[in-house]
Amino acid sequence: MIRTIFNTTLAKKSLLSAALSLALVTTTNAEQFTFEQDKSTKSATTLVVFQAKEQPSSDLKHLINASEQQISNVLKVAKFTGEKDQLVEVIAPHGIDAERVIIIGLGDMKNLHAGAVNNIGASVAAKLAKMDAENISILTQGVSDDTSNASFAAHLAHGINLRSYQFDKYLSKKKPAEKHYHLSVIDEQKAQITYQGLSAIEAGVFLARDLTSETPTEMTPVDFANAAKSLTKLGVKVTVLEPKEIEALGMGALHAVGRGSLEGSRLVVAHWQGSDETPIALVGKGITFDSGGYNIKAGSSISRMKSDMAGAAAVLGTVKAMALQKAKVNVVAVMPMAANMVSETSFAPGDVLTTAEGLSVEVLNTDAEGRLILADGMWYARDKYKVNTMIDVATLTGSKVRALGDRYSAIFTDDEQLLTQLTVSGKTVEEQVWRLPLAYKDMLKTPIADLKNIGTSGPGASTAAVFLQHFAGDTTWAHLDIAGNALAAKDKDVMPAGGTGYGVRLLSNWLLTTQVK
Ligand code: BES
Ligand code: MN
Ligand code: ZN
Repeated sequence: MIRTIFNTTLAKKSLLSAALSLALVTTTNAEQFTFEQDKSTKSATTLVVFQAKEQPSSDLKHLINASEQQISNVLKVAKFTGEKDQLVEVIAPHGIDAERVIIIGLGDMKNLHAGAVNNIGASVAAKLAKMDAENISILTQGVSDDTSNASFAAHLAHGINLRSYQFDKYLSKKKPAEKHYHLSVIDEQKAQITYQGLSAIEAGVFLARDLTSETPTEMTPVDFANAAKSLTKLGVKVTVLEPKEIEALGMGALHAVGRGSLEGSRLVVAHWQGSDETPIALVGKGITFDSGGYNIKAGSSISRMKSDMAGAAAVLGTVKAMALQKAKVNVVAVMPMAANMVSETSFAPGDVLTTAEGLSVEVLNTDAEGRLILADGMWYARDKYKVNTMIDVATLTGSKVRALGDRYSAIFTDDEQLLTQLTVSGKTVEEQVWRLPLAYKDMLKTPIADLKNIGTSGPGASTAAVFLQHFAGDTTWAHLDIAGNALAAKDKDVMPAGGTGYGVRLLSNWLLTTQVK
């Protein structure tokens, strides 16, 4: 047994401060992770070990020897080659003081980017979810991802925690007690510090998931504003505009969409000023329930529309992720919030609304409401924060779901550099984006007003995007249509069923890699 002791005073101090700030970001939903150079596996009930394609790690070789070849015999019978997604379990192993050993294939080592490691972590969590294994030792010392062993271990923990989340508020059988994971690593301080940043992102993802999974009655624009206000304790500046102020500023589109609900609309702003650079704006669609309005949604899809505020949840979650790790970025989340309801006071098909931009919009379909509230949200971000770069995130169109399904979000932009950056971030965290055309502007013409809110036919995701472009001014702007990505019907990779928190990891990665120099 190799035992490395970690004991310089300086290192201890920074580990302590890492642990302290970690305590701050740990939510009740979190599993527990310890990174240790010590390879001791004494109290573990479960050992997890890895093998790349045809390349047993030193950790696995060690266990094979300890088991007097039993493990290699099992691997042979199971036809285990170390291919990605292969998983073999050996229960009651010979010569090893644990109830089970789990051997996981890593596939080709050169494909081990962060997102791939997160997904391996997710498969570990999924495998252990149904077991009462509470003490788990993961041997990672023999494995590195495309960066380092510390990065592999931290990203593994990240994937485990993201997958272990559960929205159990309405279940009488709550999520089981948290599991304790001990990860043996080469450099515990490096692993710990890498994981600290990732755990801030987890907290952002969990916030977005909580908000998205919450029911429409319990997550109204006012409830959402209150959730945003809770970030003030992290140093985030939160502003909430009421319907009267929204109207007074000329935001007639945002005001109109919320008019059919008792509370009316809100404009929620959460600003993390971690640097003196010009702020970056993230604008998120915040429809807390989309009934369609008078163009009411028929069929069962209406029940999924509690998730129509997932864009707002994603940008708020991103701000939380930045604030928790005190990132040196200046980012402002602007979240126009409304419930699109049917009532006597609702806006009606045929109405003409005036946006704060000064453009009039003929409403030909009250179910195309997202672009209306975003129009005023984007104007506000430009007018009040003088931003140069703006990304909006919205569950905007069924057309996007038909084109790309739920494994990609759609990106629309004229800026090739922003496109490349977001595409790379998407691949890194496995929240992939795919470009669709920012075109068909002529389809929004109407004799009644400057614009109409739906296209004539066909490319609905594009006509929605080109509608938004009218409100981007001269900013470098990208629109992410995340319809279909926000609410998962079943568990997949790092996302358990329910609100996915889609976009928080993508935007956090983008901010941290492009803004922090
Ligand atoms: N919130 C919906 C889009 C949506 C659809 C989100 C499926 C998630 C899953 C949006 O407000 C909407 O209703 N869009 C309409 C626009 C149409 C009326 C032009 C749509 O896509 O059908
Ligand atoms: Mn709608
Ligand atoms: Zn909607």
